[in-house]
Amino acid sequence: MLRLVNTTGKRARNLILIGFMGTGKTTVGMRVAKSLGWRFVDTDRLIVRKAGKPIPRIFEESGEESFRDLETEVLRKCAEGAGQVISTGGGIVTRERNREILKEAGYVIWLKASPETIYERVKNNRNRPLLKTGDPQQTIREMLEARHDLYDAACDLRIRTDDLTMEETCYGVTESARLAFAEK
Ligand code: S3P
Repeated sequence: MLRLVNTTGKRARNLILIGFMGTGKTTVGMRVAKSLGWRFVDTDRLIVRKAGKPIPRIFEESGEESFRDLETEVLRKCAEGAGQVISTGGGIVTRERNREILKEAGYVIWLKASPETIYERVKNNRNRPLLKTGDPQQTIREMLEARHDLYDAACDLRIRTDDLTMEETCYGVTESARLAFAEK
């Protein structure tokens, strides 16, 4: 198990994955947590559990703002813990408060991918209400563009995943965590 001390001498708290929909945050987070012997948490799953309904229904019945409120609440709760790999929803960086919580909560890795890669990964999935538009490819391009600087500001490390297999991404994230949380 990885010791919870980082190179700044501060007690390391959590490893956090951010990035656009379809960049593999959940799959990678689960596998990395297993390798590190840390607990895995996923903000989307916690929101679904809290709301008692799937994400598309939260959006349909209560709207995006209400989803974002739940997201902030769940993130704040996760941030109180330590020794966790936390996978987040792709829009978590859109609120300034969330970006502050992320910074406080631990070491943040941004899983990056091009709009083309993202489209290939999400095109058959119906669980993402924000991509149910007439032209999902264009929507992805616009949302990525709008969020780029927010992801950039919120992260400590960027990993471009386009040409990586899931195993390679997991390896990159795990080894980066080992360095970030290594004892002096
Ligand atoms: C969202 C991303 C989704 C989910 C919700 C909103 C977004 O999470 O939180 O549909 O705004 O990008 P994933 O990134 O896990 O798909």
